[in-house]
Amino acid sequence: SETGCLSIVVLGASGDLAKKKTFPALFNLYRQGFLQSNEVHIFGYARTKISDDDLRNRIRSYLEKGSAKSEEVSEFLQLIKYVSGSYDTEEGFRMLDKEISLHEEFRNSTEGSSRRLFYLALPPSVYPVVCRMIKLCCMNKCGWTRIVVEKPFGKDLDSAEKLSNQIGELFEEPQLYRIDHYLGKELVQNLLVLRFANRFFLPLWNRDNIDNVQIVFREDFGTEGRGGYFDEYGIIRDIIQNHLLQVLCLVAMEKPVSLKPEHIRDEKVKVLQSVMPIKDEEVVLGQYNGDEEVVLGQYHGYRDDSKVPDHSNTPTFASIILRIHNERWEGVPFILKAGKALSSKKADIRVQFKDVPGDIFNCMSSNHSMRILLDHSIRKSMSVKQPGLEMSTVQSELDLSYKQRYHGVTIPDAYERLLLDT
Ligand code: BG6
Repeated sequence: SETGCLSIVVLGASGDLAKKKTFPALFNLYRQGFLQSNEVHIFGYARTKISDDDLRNRIRSYLEKGSAKSEEVSEFLQLIKYVSGSYDTEEGFRMLDKEISLHEEFRNSTEGSSRRLFYLALPPSVYPVVCRMIKLCCMNKCGWTRIVVEKPFGKDLDSAEKLSNQIGELFEEPQLYRIDHYLGKELVQNLLVLRFANRFFLPLWNRDNIDNVQIVFREDFGTEGRGGYFDEYGIIRDIIQNHLLQVLCLVAMEKPVSLKPEHIRDEKVKVLQSVMPIKDEEVVLGQYNGDEEVVLGQYHGYRDDSKVPDHSNTPTFASIILRIHNERWEGVPFILKAGKALSSKKADIRVQFKDVPGDIFNCMSSNHSMRILLDHSIRKSMSVKQPGLEMSTVQSELDLSYKQRYHGVTIPDAYERLLLDT
């Protein structure tokens, strides 16, 4: 692994994503020894004029969870320095560069070359200008500079290509990391292993045996504070086009030549190219309403959010059927569903097998499913003989729950893995 001075810059440091995901992930990497305090410095950048300590105090409560000790949290927070500035003028970025350079000079007296990682926890509308400012003011002179961006990457093909070109003019492809945190989830990573390292799945994974595939995301809370962002994009661009489509690719693709990223990418692209245009009658959209019965205003409607226009018709729920026109999947619907403010929280993949032909048991349901629950379990339903003297069948389950099976193993958060990779 690489060593030397590392500056991690979180742009949009006072925002929701940074507080809830980025800083906690960095903290966990720090706790596990992946970020050394003698090498790493973290810079928060945003427009709000606050002090280092103000930022640290804002983040603290998000870190003091689970087994984290408060001394550890304090140690980590000391690595964070805050710089305020606008996103579209050089002044702030020059200041940021100065701070990073100071840290590098200090470290480089003993260490080798330096590394600068810029993580954009920002709305995509400012990606181009921020990237331009980084290029103008903050490039590393003796080591690499990398940029991490997330979805939504544009709103449609045109805007995505435009954004890609704008950023592509400034940086080389290997410097750019377009991340999707679903790909960092343990069970999503497991999909490749499940599919391609188990002999018994190989012959079953096709239209002859599988009736349908459902990839479902539900959340039991609404847009909460993110209404402004959400209303611009909606549930399809927030969840389906990115997270669920990535999962679909891993479920549906052919075996890649190797685990090299390019090889996996090539197979994913083939799946996407085989998806037929979506039919209107195979799409359902919805938006959650407030619940008047609930006291204390616990359940606001989507439009009750002060940042959401009163007449917004942005969907917060969508169900879409995708049809993959290839030899393996012709005729098998892939049902993608996503919704906010629903009755429960879960994300799972459900592969529904066809009925057993020529059933001799009068099985009410011989159609079995396999479920991969992204919060860490894999369940395969099956028919077994009902224990006892009678010859009757009952539905049972092979259940691999990670908590039970892997005692004391901490499953890394998706962002930890992705940030470590970058
Ligand atoms: C984000 C979406 O990408 O994923 C959020 O913007 C959503 O709307 C979140 O809440 C869900 O992620 P996870 O890891 O909690 O399933």
